[in-house]
Amino acid sequence: MPVAFTRDPDLTPALREEIVQLWTRVTNAGGAVGFVPPVTAADVRPVADEQAAGVRAGELRLVAAHQDGALVGTAYLKLNAHRLMRHWAWVVTVMVDPGLQGGGHGKRLLNEVIDMGRDLGFDALRLGVRSGRGVEDFYAAVGFEEIGRMPDAIRVAGGEFRDDIMMWLPLK
Ligand SMILES: CC(C)(COP(=O)(O)OP(=O)(O)OC[C@H]1O[C@@H](n2cnc3c(N)ncnc32)[C@H](O)[C@@H]1OP(=O)(O)O)[C@@H](O)C(=O)NCCC(=O)NCCS
Repeated sequence: MPVAFTRDPDLTPALREEIVQLWTRVTNAGGAVGFVPPVTAADVRPVADEQAAGVRAGELRLVAAHQDGALVGTAYLKLNAHRLMRHWAWVVTVMVDPGLQGGGHGKRLLNEVIDMGRDLGFDALRLGVRSGRGVEDFYAAVGFEEIGRMPDAIRVAGGEFRDDIMMWLPLK
């Protein structure tokens, strides 16, 4: 079944709930998207609500991936408020439904959000990756380069830390 990508979809209550459910599933399958498992939808919902408010305010731009009418992936551009940094944007909350991972959909989703960044006129995109899972190779596969690391910047448990890998993709 093909996966279709939509830029700036209407954030209906139904889509917002699908985002919460997807984010919960991805996290509980081991995904590193702002949480550590286990989480419930109630844990994720306030963070998703905050993100939805950012979309409404124009601070975030969503690319949604659908298969057969169901949400199966998200990626966002997060715009910079700082007047000296408005020429580049962040890529955040990149995730694909656990049942579909490894099938090339993540790469297509990422390319769609990169194209959106280019179409919006950004000079470059930046993102942060939690170390230890090899996900930086996923971003490298579409051209992002590691430009540095914040050692132990992410605390995943009491005494357990991960680096925050900074990745950068020039668009011009
Ligand atoms: C990361 C994620 C979005 C990738 O999507 P996907 O559909 O599984 O990836 P694809 O099948 O499109 O893979 C594209 C390429 O990246 C590589 N890749 C994908 N996931 C990888 C991983 N976890 N580690 C290393 N390489 C990975 C693939 O081998 C493939 O390489 P190739 O083009 O040379 O064959 C998806 O696995 C996911 O949602 N993971 C959980 C959430 C998460 O951790 N998101 C990242 C937050 S920074």
